[in-house]
Amino acid sequence: MKEIDSKISGFYKLSIEERQKIIAERVELTNDELLLLKKFGYFEPGQLDTMIENVIGSYQLPFGIACNFKINGKDYLIPMVIEEPSVVAAASNAARIARKKGGFQSEKVKSIMISQIQITNLENIEQAEKEIITNKQKIIDLANEKDPLLIKLGGGVVDIETRKFNTNYGDMLIVHLLVDVLDAMGANVVNTMAEGVSKFIEDITKGRIYLRIVSNLATHRLAKSKAVFDKDLLGGEDVVNGILNAYEFARVDPYRAATHNKGIMNGIIALTLATGNDTRAIESGAHAYASLKGQYSPLTKYYKDDNGDLVGEIELPLALGIIGGMTKIHPMARLALKILNTQNTEELCQVTAALGLAQNLAALRALASEGIQKGHMELHSRNIAKLADVPDHLVEKVAKILVEDKKIRIDYAKEVLERLKKE
Ligand code: MEV
Repeated sequence: MKEIDSKISGFYKLSIEERQKIIAERVELTNDELLLLKKFGYFEPGQLDTMIENVIGSYQLPFGIACNFKINGKDYLIPMVIEEPSVVAAASNAARIARKKGGFQSEKVKSIMISQIQITNLENIEQAEKEIITNKQKIIDLANEKDPLLIKLGGGVVDIETRKFNTNYGDMLIVHLLVDVLDAMGANVVNTMAEGVSKFIEDITKGRIYLRIVSNLATHRLAKSKAVFDKDLLGGEDVVNGILNAYEFARVDPYRAATHNKGIMNGIIALTLATGNDTRAIESGAHAYASLKGQYSPLTKYYKDDNGDLVGEIELPLALGIIGGMTKIHPMARLALKILNTQNTEELCQVTAALGLAQNLAALRALASEGIQKGHMELHSRNIAKLADVPDHLVEKVAKILVEDKKIRIDYAKEVLERLKKE
């Protein structure tokens, strides 16, 4: 393997073409590979260059639609951006089953974000806390001055919390600004507010402030959804019992809970990405919430109702937005929001929670009955056929034979193709 020199000074100052040229030289890209980098898709090169640093191209993923969703009595077509086969089909399938008993019921979601202010070097943490409580309204007013538009629209700081820690570096007082960020994801808003009040807080507590930053554990922004899944449509009592056992497995075992929640995030992240929201914020919030009671736990729960049907519930923090960030800049995110036909961020959170529940139900149903591999392999076999250069009109036929013969391999796809040609 040839060694590559990764030191490039002033790379960020170059144009996209200049950067492409340097990378092409360093890693010896072929002409075809360079051409691929030059395909910007629906982006203007200038647009990409202002989104992140050191841009050399754009990267696309499939954009699919999950069908059949009814949430709080309204139908939704849900855009999903994801590379994994079966996920969109599985969500649509679970939504179809949920429809029979009225679809998903999602609760109201408050748009409250937490901003953390870390006060250190305190001589008397109790006194410092008292100062915060005494000056609460002053802190709220100061923070609100930082975003007059948000206040005009009805948002702003709604409360303040304090938390005390004894650490290896002495006592630490953490102040939480609880901010109603309305339709924004809110990280920028709350960071600005926290920075804006820190001088005053230092003065009254006589401490030293270091961090002032949003918490992604958005416990005041919880989304909850629920659905009843008809036992017959699920495949009968044994499947229902299988799903209940799968849930119990995740409840007692963090090794299983991690995979259980991964399935939920398949849906949640696909919609988060489609709408141009911050997937890492959603991931970290969800997993932190899953561990909040001391043991990493499933974000959904299941039980049987009096009818023997399966009831599923989901609860997790969802810091999403329909204004700010990428949501209005990315052309496909704008399109995704139009397809979703949501009025506000609360509705987006309600849909996202329902999608997470649907995704989880579909995975557990497959795992508790025929297993996950069958569906996966059918889709995978098509990809294998394409990789084996099977012409488009024969892909379905070859893929079917690969599945039937349980040999989903490129060499076998080539063999089958040769056989078909001779016939
Ligand atoms: C695969 O992407 C997701 C699953 O592993 C989720 C689960 O096991 O519940 C199927």
